[in-house]
Amino acid sequence: MRNGRFEPVILGTGSACGKAILVGEHFVVWGGTALAVPLTGARCDVKLSIAPAPRTEILFPEFPADERMRKAARLAARAFLGRRARRIEIELASNLPAGAGLGASAAFSVALLRAFSVALETGDEDVIAQKALDLERIFHGHPSGIDSTTIAYEAPCYVKTGDRFVGRARGAKGPLAGFIDLAPGGLFLLADSGERHDTAVAVSAVGRMAETAAGRRTIEKLTQVSETIALQTATALRQGDWPYVGSMMTENHYLLAALGVSTERLETLRRAAVGAGALGAKLTGAGAGGFLLALTTPSGAARIRRALCAAGTPRIIEQTTG
Ligand code: MEV
Repeated sequence: MRNGRFEPVILGTGSACGKAILVGEHFVVWGGTALAVPLTGARCDVKLSIAPAPRTEILFPEFPADERMRKAARLAARAFLGRRARRIEIELASNLPAGAGLGASAAFSVALLRAFSVALETGDEDVIAQKALDLERIFHGHPSGIDSTTIAYEAPCYVKTGDRFVGRARGAKGPLAGFIDLAPGGLFLLADSGERHDTAVAVSAVGRMAETAAGRRTIEKLTQVSETIALQTATALRQGDWPYVGSMMTENHYLLAALGVSTERLETLRRAAVGAGALGAKLTGAGAGGFLLALTTPSGAARIRRALCAAGTPRIIEQTTG
């Protein structure tokens, strides 16, 4: 009770999709550009109840939340409630595997922020995208923003970071981000390798390469090539030139393999997809496991699905373009 009035428990719900990076992951951390699409059927749903309390408590009654999720929830609560003490219960349902390169942490962040925004009737898409990037810093240290941007707007997006981001220059502006156009007619198949990773670990493993002058030069050269691939892919996606998009995805995979973030399982799945007629195939997200992303058109999908299953994938997710 406050000022003689009972304050009600308020409820909010939020839902957010996953994402698949089409080209440019890792290189976007080194100044390059990444392109990504939302995975509209792979989602994280959050239900929130906010009750008056003598001190702030954040509970995940039925979910084994780790320390990073708790910290992200505290930051989200602070962003929407300021210093008001509340008991916050968070229920979570997700069919997005964590550590699989599909943006599970960004989806959790966006779904949670949306739930706060609904409960407190404040905040728009732009506010949620900005705050989601703040929460992502808890999970990944120095994220480029490609995951949180694509998921917050639930639209195909690009993010370009640039030199100042790499150099962490004082006063540097945030990355450049915007929407990209995709023609209809393409189909992405995502096959689970069954292997899991921690994005922050995968990103810092690449960072260790940059500790020598030769390693740094290699990353810079590969980032320049990746930049050309990203620009060409954006044009081909708009034109619906699927064979060209596929070949750019494959080129991008070779660059990522040169960074050391592919695995034997991903290579096996990649060979299976390409052997069955995929227009292109690559690891997606941080790599070191996670999902393989293959491109096809609907008529070629059944054969590739069969080949991926025969190669041992336990799960395939599909996303159309357009
Ligand atoms: C993770 O989904 C994509 C990375 O490029 C990291 C980032 O962009 O923040 C590996």
